[in-house]
Amino acid sequence: MDQIVSRVLTLLFAWVVIPAVCATTVHANSVLPERLAGHGGPIRSITVGPDGTDVLTTSFDYSAIHWALSGGDGTVLKRLFGHDTAVNDAVFLSDGGAATVSDDGVLILWDLASGTVRQSIPGTGDKIIDIAVSPSGDRLALASWDHTVRLHDAETGALTATLKGHRGSVNAVRFSADGRSLFTASYDGTLREWDVQTGALRRRLMDHGWSINVLERLPDGKLAYGLLDGTGFVFDPVSGETAATLSKHDGPVLGLTVSQSGKLLATGGGDGRIRVSDAATGTVIEEFENPFGPVWALAFAKGDRALFYAGLDDFVSVWTIEPRKPFETVDSVFPRRFQASADMDPGEREFARKCSVCHTLEKDGKFRAGPTLFGLFGRRVGTVPGYPYSDALKSADFVWNEETIDKLFDLGPHEYTPGSKMPLQRIRSTERRSALIAYLKRVTDPASAGSGPSGTAGQEDGNDKAVNSEGQETQQ
Ligand code: HEC
Repeated sequence: MDQIVSRVLTLLFAWVVIPAVCATTVHANSVLPERLAGHGGPIRSITVGPDGTDVLTTSFDYSAIHWALSGGDGTVLKRLFGHDTAVNDAVFLSDGGAATVSDDGVLILWDLASGTVRQSIPGTGDKIIDIAVSPSGDRLALASWDHTVRLHDAETGALTATLKGHRGSVNAVRFSADGRSLFTASYDGTLREWDVQTGALRRRLMDHGWSINVLERLPDGKLAYGLLDGTGFVFDPVSGETAATLSKHDGPVLGLTVSQSGKLLATGGGDGRIRVSDAATGTVIEEFENPFGPVWALAFAKGDRALFYAGLDDFVSVWTIEPRKPFETVDSVFPRRFQASADMDPGEREFARKCSVCHTLEKDGKFRAGPTLFGLFGRRVGTVPGYPYSDALKSADFVWNEETIDKLFDLGPHEYTPGSKMPLQRIRSTERRSALIAYLKRVTDPASAGSGPSGTAGQEDGNDKAVNSEGQETQQ
């Protein structure tokens, strides 16, 4: 009985009281966008700004976007170009800047007003998957797959300490409320606490047999975390006890977020489920099935009034809690452009699998990690207007044709165009290379329809078109 009563009270509180209070105070007139559309690849992270009016997203498309929460698709304030690989996470800095980390281990400090790089700090080359900023804003913590955690001065970017001890990739980092401790979660299954001043390990808080994938700190100092086996917990580092157990996902927990009030938690799983739970009890308040696959990026809007989420799509979806809306998925092309199907021709399948995450084939191809391949044959290397090429491609001097494209993937971009941003990849089979080239030749030819291919690989919906025009307008 108690449980039922508490559940009803929780529901009332979460869905009636909080929104009612918020609606009448801060957010009386603000309407959230339906989604944030503008990235050219899946979104890796979503971070809501301190006053709740702006958002940072990072993407597989090598960029981050600073958004204003207005308009149906959100408004792109600045696109942040500077990383040469997927950008995994971002934080807002107290001085109006931001910090981002990427797959190649680079930390970039940005000036958000101008959208320019203040500092780019190389790492060890290993993936950095998570970044946290200390409560006072002076320190950054970076979770690296080289098993270490690095602390940097948030203003100068200088490395202040390297925390060593984890026996696996470090997946998540969070500062304690007083900024003196750092909590870290790792693939090695442990949750650890470190001294921020000295970099020394204070204690091992938990030891699970499974990778701890995600970690958040609640405003009251408790820690919430989710594991590879689908379980999740709220843990009190003061008492050393588990305060709540979260409902288990049928797949790894990939995303976790805490609302600003600290009352709600949301988890996203490899099972495509999003759950909103009471942070104090772990009771599930809402559960959604995302028919479009896993969910790894999550963030609550200010006032607990909406949940931003993202997975395989190129956009962030917004589920509105206040005024409460049923969970409706936004239209999405399925299968995704990078999911190949058996009935594709071999060249098309090669493109869908290996290229389409980073390249479009359309004339007005929107921004992805790489330039559009429309009109590729006979085009000089490095010449799509507005695309931020590497110096290597800008200064190269040859024309793309059957022969040069064949060499590119026979030798690999690192050999054929050294210094290129395109990741190391080779297609060893001559047959596959010629199938890919024949396909590209057919669908990128400006003389044919000129609007790209038909079929799944290049299939785009109306959303993408809307994004095109926005992308063009807002690219710097
Ligand atoms: C992870 C992202 C990624 C993938 C996957 C990828 N590319 Fe690229 N590609 C890039 C980037 C980034 C550039 C720009 C490189 C630079 O500026 O150095 C590029 C450049 C190119 C260029 C040169 C374009 C020009 O205008 O000069 C060609 C051709 C190309 N890619 C073809 C392909 C094909 C074909 C595939 C699949 C077999 C592929 N790429 C897969 C990211 C990718």
